[in-house]
Amino acid sequence: VPTPTPEDKFSFGLWTVGWQGVDPFGGATRPPMDTVHALEKLAGLGAYGVNFHDDDVIPFGSDDATRDKIIARFKQGLDDTGLVVTTATTNLFSHPVFKAGGFTNNNRDIRRFALRKVMRNVDLAAELGAKVYVAWGGREGAEYGASQDTAVALDRMKEAFDLLGDYVTEQGYDIRFAIEPKPNEPRGDILLPTIGHALAFINQLERPEMVGVNPEIGHEEMAGMNAAAGYAQALWQGKLYHIDLNGQNGPKYDQDLRFGAGNVRGAFWIVDVLLAGGYDGPVHFDYKPSRIEDEDGVWVSAAANMRNYLILREKVRAFRADPEVQEALAAARLPELAQTTLAEGEDWKQLLEWQLPDPEALATIGAATEHLDQLALEHLYGVR
Ligand code: GCO
Ligand code: MN
Ligand code: MN
Ligand code: MN
Repeated sequence: VPTPTPEDKFSFGLWTVGWQGVDPFGGATRPPMDTVHALEKLAGLGAYGVNFHDDDVIPFGSDDATRDKIIARFKQGLDDTGLVVTTATTNLFSHPVFKAGGFTNNNRDIRRFALRKVMRNVDLAAELGAKVYVAWGGREGAEYGASQDTAVALDRMKEAFDLLGDYVTEQGYDIRFAIEPKPNEPRGDILLPTIGHALAFINQLERPEMVGVNPEIGHEEMAGMNAAAGYAQALWQGKLYHIDLNGQNGPKYDQDLRFGAGNVRGAFWIVDVLLAGGYDGPVHFDYKPSRIEDEDGVWVSAAANMRNYLILREKVRAFRADPEVQEALAAARLPELAQTTLAEGEDWKQLLEWQLPDPEALATIGAATEHLDQLALEHLYGVR
């Protein structure tokens, strides 16, 4: 397995390795992590970039002088380590003011406050060279039917993205937004719960070209979705602006396991989709090192995300290069799907003239996918 290098474009949220292990049933199990220490460690492990919420770097409510000092030190850390800021995002969920959401809070002052918080960190993101700005609306949602008017909340969500699109355009920033879907947690139900909801929402915006998605594997699996298929559709629509790779074991609470843990087969197909679709953005991990680990365990898990990606990348390449797989793909008629259904020059009129085949005969043809999938599994199991 190759060693991670900056060319692999691995990036981490500072909130991942810096997670102190607070969960709904217990407090912190690890001390706060200094951001510059995190930069040094991540660079040492071969990462390329980092990503942060405003509050991960600058504590909520810091005065301007403190903020400037913190930013100067952080920038120095970036210079010293060579790490790139690939992406940034806003914390619109920790402070109690956002308990009922930011962009779609029923309270108008809170919505305006949330937008200002985003705009301020977009300025910093632009200054640090981030090209993507992630928007995860974790508290944009509800527990009860009548407590949120979904259609009106979507109007406000659209208003927020339209305003942010104007802001970035008029400030001349080279930044695009990536919406991160999640079905639930911390809210009972969250707006834009899946990749599909987010892609459809983006079409309603004034500047749809400025907004894509940042799908997280675990979030799609929480919703019972096939994450790889969702990533593939986002790529097909030119909307996979960023990715949150991690691990999840089916529909349950958001596990945020390291990438490659959890649904291993799903992880294999994610890497396959990314390679086939030519995804060239940062390979970003959004996971939580288990709260029963100490700091050593944090770095073991950080390294493991990258190592698992590289292992799976090798396995996917070997799978695709395997002559028996090529044959199996042909037997399963994958190349045939790539042919247009109508021939060149044909339209519905020729189709109407076409001599219908015998459906009973067509129905007897096997799909030959069991052999194909077994080959994939054997590559994954390491026996081919
Ligand atoms: C989650 C989310 C968050 C977001 C992050 C960036 O665990 O539910 O994935 O980690 O990705 O807040 O906006
Ligand atoms: Mn999480
Ligand atoms: Mn998550
Ligand atoms: Mn995420």
